[in-house]
Amino acid sequence: MSKLAISGGMPVRQEAFPSWPVIGVTDREKLLEVFESGKWWYGERVREFEERYAAFHDAKYGVTCANGTVALEVALLACGIGAGDEVIVPPYTFMATASAVLKVNAIPVFADIELDTCNLDPKDVERKITDKTKAVIPVHIAGLPVDMDAFRALTQKHKLALIEDACHSWGSKWKGKGTGAIGDCGVFSFQMSKNITSGEGGILLTDNEEIADTARSYTNCGRIKGGAWYEHHLMGSNLRMTELQAAILSGQLERLEEQTLKREENAAYLGEQLKDMPGISLMRRDARVTRRSYHMYIFRFLSEEWPGVSRDKFLEALRAEGIPCSAGYSPLYKNPLFQQSGEGPRYCPISCPYHGQGMDYTQVVCPNAELISREGCWIPHTVLLAEEQDMKDIACAIRKVWESRGELTGI
Ligand SMILES: Cc1ncc(COP(=O)(O)O)c(C=O)c1O
Repeated sequence: MSKLAISGGMPVRQEAFPSWPVIGVTDREKLLEVFESGKWWYGERVREFEERYAAFHDAKYGVTCANGTVALEVALLACGIGAGDEVIVPPYTFMATASAVLKVNAIPVFADIELDTCNLDPKDVERKITDKTKAVIPVHIAGLPVDMDAFRALTQKHKLALIEDACHSWGSKWKGKGTGAIGDCGVFSFQMSKNITSGEGGILLTDNEEIADTARSYTNCGRIKGGAWYEHHLMGSNLRMTELQAAILSGQLERLEEQTLKREENAAYLGEQLKDMPGISLMRRDARVTRRSYHMYIFRFLSEEWPGVSRDKFLEALRAEGIPCSAGYSPLYKNPLFQQSGEGPRYCPISCPYHGQGMDYTQVVCPNAELISREGCWIPHTVLLAEEQDMKDIACAIRKVWESRGELTGI
């Protein structure tokens, strides 16, 4: 048994994994062309990117905006969600999924996730539906599509809007159709860490023309199709994307398919290497998932099989072996925003004195989200752009840490 790198031994790997973002030669040309044209404002390139990205996801319409957070807010507004409405969201996601609901003065209601996918559990969603529920926002966590058949059936049965938070699932497909275009609408983020990026940026996709037009109006100061420039119909904002961002994204989009396939191949290979590994468990992939983006590779550290070793110590040991990894999300409702709503600033509708309907998030418990927040392990998507041999290093490092786990109990 070799000594762990965390205790001074030789690491499994010393070479770096691929860096991010990937910049192609033509990306520079595309960006310079826009720069030199002096046309930096929303125009031809943004429109072209909207069309190409929507087509890539099998959607009819694409409406770009400043980032994924505002794309969620716009999606809620465009679906008619407002004050006093309840919107069911998972707690295991980035804060924007829930804060966007608050921003439109609606109430986020947390339903639990499935332990073997980390995705929102449709059965728990059904239990949380009340007569105030107006929408559900499932998140395709790490690019793994949620059970869209179940969510479609559920939202149709209860007449709810279905908004996909597809901010991890560029290129993921459910039964052959692109995520983000299966529900009423879906939103994507192009923030720096994402699998297609322009530093910041976002897009809403939909097959529904009315949602697309309303979303466009909200992102463009409330203007409407065919209206005069200084004519404003909705309480919109300026959330437009620039031509410079669109130029960067157009180069990124050219490589997305190829990179997605590479991540999928490497993830499948890594899965083969890890499937019988003691001490961890892998996520389940539904047979109806036909393409998966892999924003990260998630697996579970099975605490009961590692007496005396914490998940965080395990991750530290793995990083010392040269494998990038992190712990991931904590349940959103544990954040001060939700836990101290009575004492801190007054966020409507959590504790708005005028709204008359406060929420007590200190009572919320989603056991699976809490367990995953203690046991989840994330490997970033850039690692999956390496070669097959590099995947062996990951498996080798996890096995080494398992075999020498005794070294971790005393430190
Ligand atoms: C699941 C999820 N939803 C929404 C967002 C918000 O996107 P943005 O950072 O572009 O505002 C993110 C970004 O991290 C995300 O991961």
